Amino acid sequence: MSAFFEEKVLSVHHWTDTLFSFTCTRDPAFRFKSGQFTMIGLLVDGKPLLRAYSMVSGNWEEHLEFLSIKVPDGPLTSRLQHIKVGDTVLIGRKPVGTLLTESLLPGRNLYMVATGTGLAPFMSLIRDPDTYENIEKVVLIHGCRAVAELAYEELIAHELPQHELLGELAAEKLVYYPTVTREAFIHQGRVTDLIFSGKLPADLGLPPVDKEQDRVMLCGSPGLLADYTAWFKQGAWLEGTNSARGQFVIEKAFVEK
Ligand code: A2P
Repeated sequence: MSAFFEEKVLSVHHWTDTLFSFTCTRDPAFRFKSGQFTMIGLLVDGKPLLRAYSMVSGNWEEHLEFLSIKVPDGPLTSRLQHIKVGDTVLIGRKPVGTLLTESLLPGRNLYMVATGTGLAPFMSLIRDPDTYENIEKVVLIHGCRAVAELAYEELIAHELPQHELLGELAAEKLVYYPTVTREAFIHQGRVTDLIFSGKLPADLGLPPVDKEQDRVMLCGSPGLLADYTAWFKQGAWLEGTNSARGQFVIEKAFVEK
């Protein structure tokens, strides 16, 4: 049996010159937990060329969706950005990842912190009713350089709260906080400074982030993860793993080594 499913592209959406997303068919045998990623890619000269991508789509949806940057000289994304409806993409059979709500201790507010395409795993998590269980507020923080890079803003802010199955939960519990660093916008600043300074919870009328009560999930640039790791260390936060629940989880799979 091949290590990959061969799926057909159903739609492609270009958000900006450097950011796109696509949907594809989903083999019913491909099961994943919200927040996980898998290897996806293309056959290039007869060989699979693959990178790790988080599922954007809900784990109950019939199709799969992925969000990607376009790296001009990137071996995969320089090709992947040109895919068209009907093209074949490879989807790895083994989803994995650390951004699981089951790796977190029960808590009050759940902060999901993303920069750039680090938003992807949180898109599947906010579409999972289990994410909201025993949580007061799910605070989704997305930091980008420019407003145009705030992918899925319309879906998160307007469509999800109207969704026939998830609408009630999302409207009651989901709080979306988009912020940009290089343009004027309603929220500005880095997702690190906004949390570390206490500005963000204060803006939302929430108590300061507290490790005894709140939980944090992180996905984004290496700098973001390094800065939060230092902050967690200083505050003696407990990291959750697949075998023991903790106060925060980080997805390190996308960090270039
Ligand atoms: P900034 O504009 O201040 O660099 P990128 O496009 O480089 O991946 O960045 C996406 C977003 O992540 C930008 O808003 C960028 O802010 C921000 N960012 C970069 N490094 C960090 C970091 N160490 N902590 C928090 N945010 C960061």
